[in-house]
Amino acid sequence: MADFSFIGDKTDPGFGVYVHWPFCAAKCPYCDFNSHVRHQGVDQARYVSAFLNEMEEARRLSGPRTVTSIFLGGGTPSLMDPATVDAIMNGIARFWHVPDGIEITLEANPSSVEATRFRGYRAAGVNRVSLGVQALNDRDLKFLGRLHNVEDALKAIGLARDIFPRMSFDLIYARPNQTVEDWEAELKQAVSYAVDHLSLYQLTIEEGTPFYGLHKAGKLVVPDGDQSALLYEATQDITAAIGMPAYEVSNHAVPGAESRHNLTYWRYGDYAGIGPGAHGRLMIGREKLATATERKPETWLDLVEANGHGMIDQEVLGYDEQSDELLLMGLRLKEGIDLVRWEALSGRALDPEKERFLIEHGFIERIGNSRLRCTPSGMLILDAVVADLAC
Ligand SMILES: C[S@@+](CC[C@H](N)C(=O)[O-])C[C@H]1O[C@@H](n2cnc3c(N)ncnc32)[C@H](O)[C@@H]1O
Ligand code: SF4
Repeated sequence: MADFSFIGDKTDPGFGVYVHWPFCAAKCPYCDFNSHVRHQGVDQARYVSAFLNEMEEARRLSGPRTVTSIFLGGGTPSLMDPATVDAIMNGIARFWHVPDGIEITLEANPSSVEATRFRGYRAAGVNRVSLGVQALNDRDLKFLGRLHNVEDALKAIGLARDIFPRMSFDLIYARPNQTVEDWEAELKQAVSYAVDHLSLYQLTIEEGTPFYGLHKAGKLVVPDGDQSALLYEATQDITAAIGMPAYEVSNHAVPGAESRHNLTYWRYGDYAGIGPGAHGRLMIGREKLATATERKPETWLDLVEANGHGMIDQEVLGYDEQSDELLLMGLRLKEGIDLVRWEALSGRALDPEKERFLIEHGFIERIGNSRLRCTPSGMLILDAVVADLAC
């Protein structure tokens, strides 16, 4: 019988607040996140006022809520002054109830890490840092267009470990020409620096990025499906062996150290999305509202200053859309989804033929009577499994 004691309280997926800092010192050639380079500098105080205005609008929509996690993501939030982070924290506490001790994460790039600034974030309430290490060899860091080298990364990991109670770092694997042996050696080194959480992403070639152009022109070749599967399996084996198994497709933690904030997304909870290009999901009565803000920072700022918020899309999601989203997010998790919740939203049971086919081929499995999850093989073809079950 599988052990699911780590799952915690699934009945309340929580309410997270996400704040997006959309600026980076340089744009990485693989990245399609909403991140922008502004060599002329950024008026942080102006962004703080705008964040607070947008929070007020989100609070009007959400009503009074108790925050279960805060995430400062980007872009590169570690380019923010500690005073900016402090003002954002105070703003959140003005609009919602923020209990002591909730998880407060800030994403940091090793190239912008500095002890005084880290201490400032800690003083502002940040208790978890997620570092974008990406690789542990200088050749690949250069290939990924990163501004840091391995020495900078190790220094940043050391500082994060000293200053914050919790820390995680990201690596990108399935790089061109990466062998399983290369990756195993690098990952074994990485886990020796890890505290209790790691995010391990396979390199994806995103449309519109410089890597996409190179890939299309045949100048950048990524591992094929079989090689990627071997790399993925090696990742599962090494992380499981050191007690940091996957709890989500790309996220690994010591049981109990899972990212509370990301669990809220994957368990299809509510979150307010603040800042340029941020998305939100807010339950209003029996309806789920999907919000999206303007992506371009300066246009978002103008919108907030004119209208009090930068939301350009607010859509009430029907039960069908909600059940699809719940499936899409929940099947990423090792704990899977609660079928009773999914059936209540979708108004139907799973198609027995489809379920039998996917179970017989080893892609999904039931956990007791009321939960469903992907097997490790199913995780490799997650999009196909979700598409099959959703329609
Ligand atoms: C939006 S980034 C923000 C973190 C921070 N700016 C950084 O890059 O270090 C979050 C994470 O997404 C991952 N990521 C971004 N683009 C990716 C891609 N094309 N393929 C795989 N992982 C990617 C990276 O590991 C990165 O750390
Ligand atoms: S630093 Fe992070 S967010 Fe910025 S461009 Fe690179 S991957 Fe994207």
